[in-house]
Amino acid sequence: MQNLLNWIDARFPLTASYKAHLSEYFAPKNFNFWYYFGSLALMVLVLQIVTGIFLTMHYKPDAAYAFASVEYIMRDVPLGWLIRYMHSTGASMFFVVVYLHMMRGLLYGSYRKPRELIWIFGMLIFLMLMAEAFMGYLLPWGQMSYWGAQVIINLFSAVPFIGEDLSTLIRGDFVVGDATLNRFFAFHVIALPLVLVGLVAAHLIALHEVGSNNPDGVEIKKNKDPVTHQPLDGIPFHPYYTVKDILGVVVFLIVFASIMFFAPEMGGYFLEANNFIPADPMKTPEHIAPVWYFTPYYAILRAVPPIFGSQFPGVVAMGVAVVIFFLLPWLDKSPVKSIRYRGSKYKIALALFVVSFIGLGILGILPATELYTWIARVLSLIYFAFFLLMPWYTKNDSYQAEPDRVNF
Ligand code: HEM
Repeated sequence: MQNLLNWIDARFPLTASYKAHLSEYFAPKNFNFWYYFGSLALMVLVLQIVTGIFLTMHYKPDAAYAFASVEYIMRDVPLGWLIRYMHSTGASMFFVVVYLHMMRGLLYGSYRKPRELIWIFGMLIFLMLMAEAFMGYLLPWGQMSYWGAQVIINLFSAVPFIGEDLSTLIRGDFVVGDATLNRFFAFHVIALPLVLVGLVAAHLIALHEVGSNNPDGVEIKKNKDPVTHQPLDGIPFHPYYTVKDILGVVVFLIVFASIMFFAPEMGGYFLEANNFIPADPMKTPEHIAPVWYFTPYYAILRAVPPIFGSQFPGVVAMGVAVVIFFLLPWLDKSPVKSIRYRGSKYKIALALFVVSFIGLGILGILPATELYTWIARVLSLIYFAFFLLMPWYTKNDSYQAEPDRVNF
């Protein structure tokens, strides 16, 4: 074995990479609960790709056959139901994990210098993930697939001047149809997964360049052992964090399997009832709502009143609500990173932001009555205030000095 390893090492940096990224890669020793979600996101990404490959073997990207091919997978393909439920549960759980992963960034200021690029790659991943989920949802060609795509693509027609052409370009037709299904299939199964995998690689390369942040926001590279030159507050990723991450995977898979086997539709939140009806271009469902992970943004879209009959301002607000996260590294002026050492202003702002995000998520599912629309307006203002007022409240907030060494 050693001879084989030597042979490989002379031709490929196998041992060197293993050391650099695992056995001699030092991570802060004070990781907590919030640090499970990066490795979980990685696992769900692999799960989605593998189950997706198997689904593609029996799925037919043709408006005449798509719905029936999914039913065929569910009923006749051996274990097809399992693969499909893994993929549909995986889609929702991907967002659960990614939202919690982003929340960790907000708690500990992980987007701050020197991790701005990790954050930017993360945000690009988030955008791609949204596109991936949106396009995947059209593929079963059910009523919600069809009308959801119709509503969202129509939003692009609100863009001044080029709107109509833009939405026709996305659809490949004047209405959602076979051409739309085919192009969404191409993007969903190959183009976007390739981009996603590339971005995740860049995300992790950037992470290993600067090293992880931690719940204290202490830079562990500042305190190295004078003899070994290893960070005093770090421990080797392998075996310590591989073991920790495996624990996370086991607990996550218990939750995942419980949903998949006992409640794969999750009361209509993961798979909507209307999507068990084949797409019918002649019949609009009574109530069209996106899947739960898009509803905060959908609520913002509906909260903005049309101007001169144009939905464009709502569309802009929805877009800005997503991309504004990119600016966080530059909006946050606090001298400390972690919430542990920040003052009450940031804590209150973050708490209000979380309340507004969850509140908008709930409102986005409900029909837009007048009262709900007004609540959504207030919550949208809170949502944007979190970002726009951040330079002010982070600069004027009280804070405690970060410790020199991590607390453990
Ligand atoms: C497919 C999606 C993603 C995967 C597979 C992924 C993977 C990872 C992994 C394995 C880590 C290191 C472990 C950890 O800190 O939990 C990490 C760290 C990080 N990720 Fe992600 N990530 C994804 C999406 C995102 C998104 C959407 C964002 C934010 C917009 C983001 C921001 C960060 C940041 C800031 C760190 C450094 C955190 C710290 O050191 O405190 N990631 N990511």
